[in-house]
Amino acid sequence: MHITNEQNDIEYILFSEEQIRQRVKELGAEITELYKDSVPVVACILKGASIFYTDLCREIKGHMNMDFISVSSYGKAAQSSGVVKLIKDLDTNIEGRDLLIVEDIIDSGLTLKYLKELLYSRKPKSIRTVCLLDKHECHSEEIGCDLKGFPIENQFVVGYGLDYANYYRNLPYIGVLKKEVYSD
Ligand code: IMP
Ligand code: MG
Repeated sequence: MHITNEQNDIEYILFSEEQIRQRVKELGAEITELYKDSVPVVACILKGASIFYTDLCREIKGHMNMDFISVSSYGKAAQSSGVVKLIKDLDTNIEGRDLLIVEDIIDSGLTLKYLKELLYSRKPKSIRTVCLLDKHECHSEEIGCDLKGFPIENQFVVGYGLDYANYYRNLPYIGVLKKEVYSD
């Protein structure tokens, strides 16, 4: 790991603050419409989705309940292993409720698949998922999420909540991390 300073380690900016703000606004409007007749539980997957989540919630109009869930995937930081461990559960009883899961990025899709299976067993009325970034080449269609911010290529990105080894989350934009930072 060769972390220098957080701006220096970025190869290039993929999505600027302004681009993100615009897309989050659009997603918020879509979600507002989807849940206009219900009060959804909107669940943030910590920590990666935290910044996206707090911005998105402020673009959703109407009542909703906020909640947080934390999972960790075993294995190397730059690659998902598909083995997921629940670190912090929801506080809300979701039985009979509409649940919207907010994720930062979908890669193999295994994290969301695991979570959806777990949460369906609690008999919610519905589960939908929204992710800001979609590595569409890395998972099959049926494993994907319902609402997506931006499709991206298979590259490692950080910022706006997304990390490498728990660094770079505070960058206000989304950038591609230089390979030398995470290759040995
Ligand atoms: P999946 O289970 O393979 O879909 O992995 C999803 C999780 O892997 C995300 O919630 C992120 O924490 C992490 N992840 C996947 N790709 C990236 C990336 O490019 N940058 C930062 N984290 C990523
Ligand atoms: Mg994550």
